[in-house]
Amino acid sequence: MAEKYDSAVKLADGNYWVGYTEAESAFRTNAYIIESGDEVALIDAGSIVYFDSMFKQISKVVDVKKIKYFIQHHQDPDLCSSLPEWEKKIGPQKILAHTKSNILIYHYGVKSELVNVDLEGWELEMPDRKIKFIFMPYMHSPGEIMTYDTKTKVLFSGDIFGGLSFDWALYANEDYFEAMDAFMEHYMPSKEIVNANLKKIENLEISMICPQHGSIIPGDRVKEAIENMKNLDCGSYLYE
Ligand SMILES: [Fe+2]
Ligand SMILES: [Fe+2]
Repeated sequence: MAEKYDSAVKLADGNYWVGYTEAESAFRTNAYIIESGDEVALIDAGSIVYFDSMFKQISKVVDVKKIKYFIQHHQDPDLCSSLPEWEKKIGPQKILAHTKSNILIYHYGVKSELVNVDLEGWELEMPDRKIKFIFMPYMHSPGEIMTYDTKTKVLFSGDIFGGLSFDWALYANEDYFEAMDAFMEHYMPSKEIVNANLKKIENLEISMICPQHGSIIPGDRVKEAIENMKNLDCGSYLYE
């Protein structure tokens, strides 16, 4: 049985899970919030399909008028299609993504300023913390990024480390790596690309990994999760 949450969950100082758990699906979407002083960044805003429920859930933990940034790890509809709905509620803000993602996010008809993090030093300064963006090209999108909160050491990883499972739990259970393989083997392009990108996070201090699908990986299982992914036959290998 999947867990159900009707409110946001605090993960760390200023970091919240604000996903959606009503739909019975193996393909679950997580969104997250970084609240820092009077600013809020919404990470991977979500699907238009769940917008009303997510809006209510997010409104319970933060003043939505404080949302200044939409951090979008890539351009897929499961994380971007709600952006025009958000703009109707709180007006245009700033969408932070890689240049290669923003040229596609533009086609959702968004009015927000498109900020290309690759041209802005890969960083965002918030009132009480610095946010860093890590380039993970082709995992699975050419402009894929991850977001790292330097204060809490939480790594928001987008599709990377995502999992597929009806038996969903907020924090990864003992079967999670199986769920992770089921998603990653189809969405990641090749072992070479995966391994080259994973080098960028291997020496990073990580308190937890928060993916856009599946479950949160706690700090004591991060090394194991990285090792598991390094050895995964994915993408092009499946069709050999
Ligand atoms: Fe995706
Ligand atoms: Fe996704």
